[in-house]
Amino acid sequence: MTTALVTGATAGLGAAFARALAAERRDLVLVARDAERLSATASDLRDRFSVDVEVLPADLASVDGCELVEKRLADASRPVELLVNNAGIGLRDAFLENPIEDEERMLALNVRAVMRLTHAAVPGMVTRGHGDVLNVASVAGFGVTAPGSTYSATKAWVITFSESVHLTLRQHGVRVSAVCPGFVRTEFHSRAAIPTENIPDVLWLDADDVVRDALADLRRGRPTSVSSVRYKVLGGIVRYAPRPVFLRLIGRAARTVGR
Ligand SMILES: NC(=O)c1ccc[n+]([C@@H]2O[C@H](COP(=O)([O-])OP(=O)(O)OC[C@H]3O[C@@H](n4cnc5c(N)ncnc54)[C@H](OP(=O)(O)O)[C@@H]3O)[C@@H](O)[C@H]2O)c1
Repeated sequence: MTTALVTGATAGLGAAFARALAAERRDLVLVARDAERLSATASDLRDRFSVDVEVLPADLASVDGCELVEKRLADASRPVELLVNNAGIGLRDAFLENPIEDEERMLALNVRAVMRLTHAAVPGMVTRGHGDVLNVASVAGFGVTAPGSTYSATKAWVITFSESVHLTLRQHGVRVSAVCPGFVRTEFHSRAAIPTENIPDVLWLDADDVVRDALADLRRGRPTSVSSVRYKVLGGIVRYAPRPVFLRLIGRAARTVGR
């Protein structure tokens, strides 16, 4: 049996990744901060899927927390064949309205942890000649978001990073892919107190569908995965529209909603 390590595995997309991978009969290493919730998630997965599940409580916004997980990823005696860098947070307000400490925490979790954990996991994968890394980004990373949060910038980093390392690592049998979901009903928005009542139903995706598509796209060797036709179209427009046109439209939309 192969082993996958999933960060942010106790809720939302991370929990959906953990379920899908356990259903594929992979052993798991689950990472999040809340140790009690990790243990409950692990014992549920063991009972339902008869797989081995380790838990690793760690705050990935801190270097100490990252180092704990890096040590596990670099342990050649217990290889991790799939790393899912999923843990991430958003912020509700515009850049200048947020305390700089909140901005730094988001950058540390959404960017630094992804970089550090990939750096720790990939050498062993290259030596073994195979391995996979899935980095959860967002369609927000294709463009810019009103009201000017740096969230989209962190996710743009994840997409560009994943595409770049994908190019250099595929010759060593290592696949890297950025997962770019649209809105998914998870704890993400309530954690950041981001209002969701004005988001139309049609824009919401199901976490299990996003995960199914991400794993299928990884197997196909695609460097990015966008789930659902509607987000393929929307994401494509945002990604490939001429930047000045896109910025003008976003600016107008932001003025309309009063931000
Ligand atoms: N939901 C969406 O609409 C959406 C859309 C596009 C992209 N995404 C991306 O999808 C990923 C997963 O988000 P989600 O919606 O599933 O969020 P979620 O439901 O809020 O789950 C977040 C998970 O990450 C863990 N986590 C949070 N901070 C952490 C930290 N400092 N260190 C370690 N673990 C931490 C949480 O557990 P603890 O609190 O116990 O640590 C939890 O397991 C994120 O990267 C997010 O940016 C989400």
